[in-house]
Amino acid sequence: MKFPHEVVVITGASSGIGAEMAVQLGRLGCKLALLARREDKLNEVAAKVEAAGGKALVLPCDVSDAAAVAQAMGKAVQAFGPIDCVIANAGVGQQLDKHDYAPETVERIFRINMLGMTNAFYAALPGMLERSRGHLVAVASLASYQGMPRDGGYAASKAAMRTHCEGLRIELRGSGVDVTCICPGFIRTPITDKNNFDMPFLLEVKPATRRMLRAIAKRRRVFNFPRRLWWLIKIGQRTPRWLYDWIIAGQESRVNAGRTQKRSTDI
Ligand SMILES: NC(=O)c1ccc[n+]([C@@H]2O[C@H](COP(=O)([O-])OP(=O)(O)OC[C@H]3O[C@@H](n4cnc5c(N)ncnc54)[C@H](OP(=O)(O)O)[C@@H]3O)[C@@H](O)[C@H]2O)c1
Repeated sequence: MKFPHEVVVITGASSGIGAEMAVQLGRLGCKLALLARREDKLNEVAAKVEAAGGKALVLPCDVSDAAAVAQAMGKAVQAFGPIDCVIANAGVGQQLDKHDYAPETVERIFRINMLGMTNAFYAALPGMLERSRGHLVAVASLASYQGMPRDGGYAASKAAMRTHCEGLRIELRGSGVDVTCICPGFIRTPITDKNNFDMPFLLEVKPATRRMLRAIAKRRRVFNFPRRLWWLIKIGQRTPRWLYDWIIAGQESRVNAGRTQKRSTDI
């Protein structure tokens, strides 16, 4: 695969998709600025990137802190030169409990997923606009297209990312800066390892990452995958709401039954 960018910033590069993207881009000879909070994990990824033939700069920071992200971007430019591509991949998911609402949970999800993306994008954008060249990439989710029980905070944050990308893409038309929004289904990483429900069409991280990088290389506007899950979602969107609610509620009660059973065997 030919990748059109040399200097790439990846947020959430310490684990899962971000770490795998870094290694695959390292193999293609990219210079990578790796952002996340866990420095030890970033160092491990950086070593793999260098072993694969790329260059890596470890920049520990919290993406919800705009000043820290801007500072990290500045260091990346100093080390590697102008940034060609920012991949806003850092993200967290947490289910909400209707009996124990904690506003901090929703705030945290939005600060990391949505603000984390805008902090990264807008720190790099002035330099890109000056050079009339650049690429902003968001890793949102297929979850952004539909509401699921307890998943409101995560899905809403991903929908916010997707709609933000859509507006920004049009705003930046003709500027030389492209915007890509990637919406994956389920991929086996630490974020999904804790899920206790069926994950249809679950993908392994290596091939899934390869597909994402190919979509970035082609400067796709939106990349929804895997296709089979995307089609199910499209069908769900066209299904009458009473039927959709009935199907999802049935699924939910099976999940709850599983949970009760698990709790009783745990005790
Ligand atoms: N796996 C899936 O099925 C799936 C599906 C759709 C979308 N996605 C999205 O893909 C992205 C990557 O997820 P993943 O599956 O690779 O999960 P993961 O292995 O848990 O990776 C999440 C990454 O985000 C970083 N992160 C979390 N909070 C951060 C913060 N405040 N500041 C900086 N970095 C932070 C983590 O690093 P530190 O903890 O070191 O900070 C980690 O590197 C997420 O945005 C996720 O929503 C995943």
